[in-house]
Amino acid sequence: LLTRYEDVQRLLRDPRLGSQTLEGLDERLPGLEPRQRSALSRFYGTWLSLSDGPAHEGLRRSIAPLLAPARVAPWTPALADRAAALAPAADPARIEATFARPYAAAVVGAVLGLTAPETADALLATAGLVRVLAAPRVSTEHAAAAVAALATAGDLARLAAGRAPGPGPVPLLHGSDLPEDVLVAVFVQLLAGGYDPLARCITACAQALVADAPDRADGLRGFERARVDDLIRLHGPFELVPRIVTEPVQLGDRTLEPGQRVLLAIGSANRDESRFPDPAAVRTDRPTHLAFGSGRHRCPAAGLASAAVAAALAVLPRP
Ligand code: HEM
Repeated sequence: LLTRYEDVQRLLRDPRLGSQTLEGLDERLPGLEPRQRSALSRFYGTWLSLSDGPAHEGLRRSIAPLLAPARVAPWTPALADRAAALAPAADPARIEATFARPYAAAVVGAVLGLTAPETADALLATAGLVRVLAAPRVSTEHAAAAVAALATAGDLARLAAGRAPGPGPVPLLHGSDLPEDVLVAVFVQLLAGGYDPLARCITACAQALVADAPDRADGLRGFERARVDDLIRLHGPFELVPRIVTEPVQLGDRTLEPGQRVLLAIGSANRDESRFPDPAAVRTDRPTHLAFGSGRHRCPAAGLASAAVAAALAVLPRP
């Protein structure tokens, strides 16, 4: 478990540490026909967060244009509209259920070009697919549900990519020329990577703001982006990033050996006082942090996520 900023940042960028692997997934998918099993293996095999090396670089290259600043920037007013539409229902005492989750769903659905019912179906399918990865042992029932979820996700991904855009900003997957299986994997990962982290981050930032300044005259309004970024440093949704050592790595007087599992504590690194003096204070003059990771797996949607958090915090009501 590595906790210092310097170590965590260095190892996030070190190619000798790989991401979680998919070894043994086939044996963990009971009761499926070979065709179903290989469809699922192919699907998980194109996941960014589960791949490394040239395959990962290729995937990153194909999604980079979808999340380029020029594609994301036009969404900023649309995010503000969605936040404003949901703000009246926000109860500061139950911010996650009454605002953060509905808003995060609205954001990922909108940027993918889905209607609200389609977003709900897509998030359910995503949850079914993620469950298989997270579980140490998968039941026959869950494996079969993942097969059905993959079919639903495929239909919705093709629908989202092929649908003529409406009057607002162009949805991220619109007109994409990604190969079909990569398209489905990217679609599911944007939902998986987007919805839950965004909801948790907004909840934590909003709760911290309420706790720190319950009677500020401007409530939670008027936060400039640098302050939002520093809130994300403190309240990012990921505490630990897991890695597996693939080649020996010298770290001080210790050697990390191949096969060893390492947890990179980005939450702790973001509070390392040698980089962030008075780490608990929210300031606008901080150096870069690790809430979005660093190196080749760094969150490809960091710009979109920051804009979405900023839009949410700008409209939340005072407690
Ligand atoms: C405040 C919200 C968010 C935070 C703090 C966050 C943070 C992160 C972090 C730390 C990683 C790197 C994990 C690693 O190194 O293994 C990551 C990866 C990723 N994130 Fe985000 N994320 C957020 C929102 C989003 C959103 C909105 C999307 C998509 C719409 C997204 C999509 C992804 C994807 C696809 C990856 C995998 C990248 C790869 O492995 O190459 N994230 N995110």
